[in-house]
Amino acid sequence: MKKFTLSILGCGSRGGDTYGSLAFKEKDKFQITAICDSDNFKLEKYGKLFGVESKNLFNSEDEFLKERRSDALVIATLDKDHVRECLKAMALGYDILLEKPISSNEEELYDLLDAQKKYGNKVLVCHVLRYAPAFVKIKELLDSGAVGKLVNIDSTEQVAFWHYAHSYVRGNWRRSEDTAPMILAKCCHDLDLLQYYAKSTAKSVSSIGSLSYFQAENAPLDSAERCTDCKYKDTCPYSAFNVYIKKWKDSGCPENWWPYNVLAPDVPVTEEKLMKSISTGNYGRCVFRCDNDVVDNQITAIQFENGVNAALKMIAFSHDIGRITVFYGTEGEIELDETREVIVVKPFGKDCATININELVENDSFGHGGGDFGTINAFYDMLCGKDNPETSLAKSVESHLMGIAAEKSRLNGGQVILIKH
Ligand SMILES: NC(=O)c1ccc[n+]([C@@H]2O[C@H](COP(=O)([O-])OP(=O)(O)OC[C@H]3O[C@@H](n4cnc5c(N)ncnc54)[C@H](O)[C@@H]3O)[C@@H](O)[C@H]2O)c1
Repeated sequence: MKKFTLSILGCGSRGGDTYGSLAFKEKDKFQITAICDSDNFKLEKYGKLFGVESKNLFNSEDEFLKERRSDALVIATLDKDHVRECLKAMALGYDILLEKPISSNEEELYDLLDAQKKYGNKVLVCHVLRYAPAFVKIKELLDSGAVGKLVNIDSTEQVAFWHYAHSYVRGNWRRSEDTAPMILAKCCHDLDLLQYYAKSTAKSVSSIGSLSYFQAENAPLDSAERCTDCKYKDTCPYSAFNVYIKKWKDSGCPENWWPYNVLAPDVPVTEEKLMKSISTGNYGRCVFRCDNDVVDNQITAIQFENGVNAALKMIAFSHDIGRITVFYGTEGEIELDETREVIVVKPFGKDCATININELVENDSFGHGGGDFGTINAFYDMLCGKDNPETSLAKSVESHLMGIAAEKSRLNGGQVILIKH
């Protein structure tokens, strides 16, 4: 079995806890030889965990990208950094596992494709759900003709109230200026899947959406800037006490679970560390008084070149987390419900069949329904030369173009945007 040396640029939740930990476990396939992170704490922590020599730990991106340090590279920094770093890494000859979203700038997407043509790198974008067994099963069912010819897809991405508050009100993805608009930050997986299932590229997109609730005017009377000082701290569903302390305790006080390890990266997570974080940091701010601007609800309509139509709804205000997608075909319907953990196949005039998603997942230890595990293995296959045209950089760029068009439409009152290919 061929083994590849691997570097990680951006060793946080995704780079360190997810891909780093997975690659470290897959010892026959990868050896982590270098890490770059601007945060010295994380650099030291993961350097030690993955056994990386101290001379190969870099806290400066410029220093790290002076030369090629391994066969392959994971880029898992924040959204705005991806293209800048990826272009430099491509010029150095790296094959790359690139976190999503690639970029919300159309020109930058084409720059990456041009660089790939010039340098010939293999690049896999982390559309993790493509490798999650439940979503793979849907593809198999559609391709097998289980519901005839696909006509329409109706997809709802339920973000969940606490997850939305964590990532998109208080967290890294709260400002479209600093990261990407919600349709790319959260829904680029959905757009990618819609295109994958429709087996086509988008012809036109229109979208409406707004930030309807997490603004100062909706703050309860006499509420405070921070949850620790607030008279609603035990009753507000978005209170940091509810979202972190109570939820962590209800989950059995896990030592190293997301999102608690985001507040307390020096695991094990403890109540004291969570309290310290919510008393002083971003995750204890009142959800009505943050500097967030990304939408909390959005509906996007997509018309594909081959006639398939799709609707995608993103909603912050859900109790549960997970996607509910219905595929309507000429001879039946398939429902994928992550919250009930089922796929129901409903052929017209025949008996329905229910598939339990959990029975499909062999390795969910790293999240996204087994998709994270599938992604690192798909990257390994790609490095071994088993490229899949369905998961090419060009395909990922196509789905990002849908997101960019959707945001343009939303900012123009839902105007229909034609997509040029
Ligand atoms: N594929 C998915 O399903 C999925 C899920 C969550 C997040 N993401 C994406 O993954 C990326 C990383 O997210 P995360 O949750 O791991 O964030 P994170 O904040 O936990 O990790 C980012 C890391 O990058 C480091 N960093 C930032 N700028 C740097 C620089 N210039 N040089 C070196 N290091 C730098 C930070 O110190 C941090 O450790 C984001 O783009 C996010 O949108 C993807």
